[in-house]
Amino acid sequence: MKLCMIGTGYVGLVSGVCFADLGNEVICVDKDLNKIKKLKKGIIPIYEPGLEELVLKNYKNKRLKFSTNLSDSVSKSDIIFICVGTPIKKNNNGADLNQIYNVAKQISGSISKFKIIITKSTVPVTTGDEIEKIISKKKSKKLFTVVSNPEFLREGEAIRDFIYPDRVVIGTKDKKSNRILKNLYSPLISKGAKYLNTSRRAAELIKYASNSFLATKITFINEIANLCEKININIEDISIGMGLDKRIGSRFLRAGPAYGGSCFPKDTKAIITTADKFKINLSVIKSVIKSNDNRSLLLLKRIYELLNNKVKNKKICFLGVTFKANTDDMRDSSSLSMIPALIKKGAKINYYDPTGHKKEFSMLKDVTFSEDINTAIKFSDLIIIHTEWNDFKSINFKKNVKNKKFILFDVRNIYSSDKMKELKIKYFGIGR
Ligand code: UGA
Repeated sequence: MKLCMIGTGYVGLVSGVCFADLGNEVICVDKDLNKIKKLKKGIIPIYEPGLEELVLKNYKNKRLKFSTNLSDSVSKSDIIFICVGTPIKKNNNGADLNQIYNVAKQISGSISKFKIIITKSTVPVTTGDEIEKIISKKKSKKLFTVVSNPEFLREGEAIRDFIYPDRVVIGTKDKKSNRILKNLYSPLISKGAKYLNTSRRAAELIKYASNSFLATKITFINEIANLCEKININIEDISIGMGLDKRIGSRFLRAGPAYGGSCFPKDTKAIITTADKFKINLSVIKSVIKSNDNRSLLLLKRIYELLNNKVKNKKICFLGVTFKANTDDMRDSSSLSMIPALIKKGAKINYYDPTGHKKEFSMLKDVTFSEDINTAIKFSDLIIIHTEWNDFKSINFKKNVKNKKFILFDVRNIYSSDKMKELKIKYFGIGR
């Protein structure tokens, strides 16, 4: 099939490349000429394991093309995926849909035969209705249909998540489009993905409800971890015990720092704004946001306690600063609030991240980046394992840290408390 992905950010690029790999002809469009030039040379704008190889392979075999010409790419394709960003609005926490509507206007000028237009970006309920209105101002409804097909990819696992999704959700009442899209996704359905056809509005809401529910699950286990710390119980036993109940499920029950990234913080706020419009109070999600906002403060308090409230001039090392492992994404990472707060108290921060130096910290005095793990930890009083990269899972702390009284605070629980006890390391985890 001939596909066009508008927007070569996370969603557009990963989905476009994966669709090409399944044998489709895909044009990835972006208005950013520089980005397109780089992509044509095989330079990938985001860090995602496996993506570069797949781009190179499919660009070489010509199933994947890059372009800045939206109109030409739309007219050459049968299915158009809108994959542009829907960032949070500055004034009211709702999703900013300017890019979506601009693209819809441009598409409306480029249609001359039937097109399936799909929103893959995360868009609030009724956005599909608006897109339909915009396009129908210029074109007959016989020439297009607007479908919602939310994506559920995780950064760092995006290619695997694309190939082996739990479900494919297609929001349309149009039988022909449903048939065509089922066919497009048939290689994934045959590998076990469930195919769900709903109304367009339901598909739009499934995405927000899913992300909000996952954020709730994490926040729930984080609060239970707070309780575990007080009564000497290991949170992992609780996560396993709860997760064995199939109604609950074991995934996304890992306690840790505040959740972050480009999706959960944004989408939990946006769904509340949508519900407010319809005078519905999503009180559970509201308290999830509040609890998560509070989580970094809580971890900071714990750090101050670990240091006996003597933070001034303490050398603190952060291992990993992104919002999670296997990504270079800093958006809403808890390190962004924790590091400046520690500096304010007079700490000296040193960090190492497998994805390199971060511009977010370059203006901060007393924050330095180390090129490798051992240099980063060498002179530390306190080491904080902030993300769960494999690189951090077998560090020889005893050998490499000079200060023999150093403290290890493992906010991802990647080490075993018993092993650390054996090694006589002052070790603290989350909910243990
Ligand atoms: C999330 C969803 O998982 C995807 O399904 C969705 O497609 C995506 O948002 C999106 O809307 O685009 P992502 O933000 O890439 O994906 O990352 P997650 O792996 O979901 O992690 C989000 C946050 O939750 C991270 O801060 C992570 O450390 C935290 N987390 C996750 C936990 O603290 N505990 C867990 O058990 C799982």
